[in-house]
Amino acid sequence: MEHKWFGLGLLAMGVAGLVSIVAIPPDGARPHGAAPAAGLVRPLPWTVEEGGIGVYEALAVRRASRDFSRRGRLPDEVLGRILWAASGVNRDDGRWTIPTALDSRDLRVFVLDRDGVWLYLPEEHALRLCKAGDRRAASGKQRFAGKAAVNLVYALDPSAQAGKGVPEEAIARNGAFEAGCAAQGVALACASEGLGNVVRGSWPADDLAEALDLPEGWLVLMAQSVGP
Ligand SMILES: Cc1cc2nc3c(=O)[nH]c(=O)nc-3n(C[C@H](O)[C@H](O)[C@H](O)COP(=O)(O)O)c2cc1C
Repeated sequence: MEHKWFGLGLLAMGVAGLVSIVAIPPDGARPHGAAPAAGLVRPLPWTVEEGGIGVYEALAVRRASRDFSRRGRLPDEVLGRILWAASGVNRDDGRWTIPTALDSRDLRVFVLDRDGVWLYLPEEHALRLCKAGDRRAASGKQRFAGKAAVNLVYALDPSAQAGKGVPEEAIARNGAFEAGCAAQGVALACASEGLGNVVRGSWPADDLAEALDLPEGWLVLMAQSVGP
């Protein structure tokens, strides 16, 4: 088992490293102080099997927390574990830590942090920069959203369930179930990491649409603020 995870981790890091080499300009360096360009891939450390509390202990301390006034940051190791809980790969066949309808793996997790809007890439265990700049406040109507270390936004790519016999009206509902599973996984990971989190069903739609630039048809399902 340990060997399997180690192998999977190495594979993920290897692929992520390869992708980042491809995505970064050929000279390998950005001018000092320049904003990172969209498309940049940021590999996350593979530390998912390290530490943590038991699931029942995590359930006992899970709760909504809205005090992010410390404005702390999340180390990439911690962010990597949290995103793995949301939709990370946990098996050799590429399936995820959360269930998805017909194994469509159609939930997309965006990360809004100080540096920009990122899309989590489960197979690479990495983040791809969609847009540079701090858009955290665009994910929430409540002021704490702008202070949380990261805001996760769960969105659905409905094309993955299309053509598989899923009734039209069930596609978004399935996505909402998937987002709920991801958000609870993140909440338990936060409990384990000693971090606050709160799921949110409200956001300023126009601001968030501008921040995410979602492809046609994608749906925003839920947001979740995370931080110390
Ligand atoms: C679907 C859903 C939407 C929610 N939306 C918000 C929200 O927009 N803002 C907020 O502060 N909390 C939101 N919450 C968090 C609830 O207020 C919180 O879970 C509830 O008060 C119970 O507290 P607990 O999570 O500590 O048990 C939402 C929770 C759910 C499940």
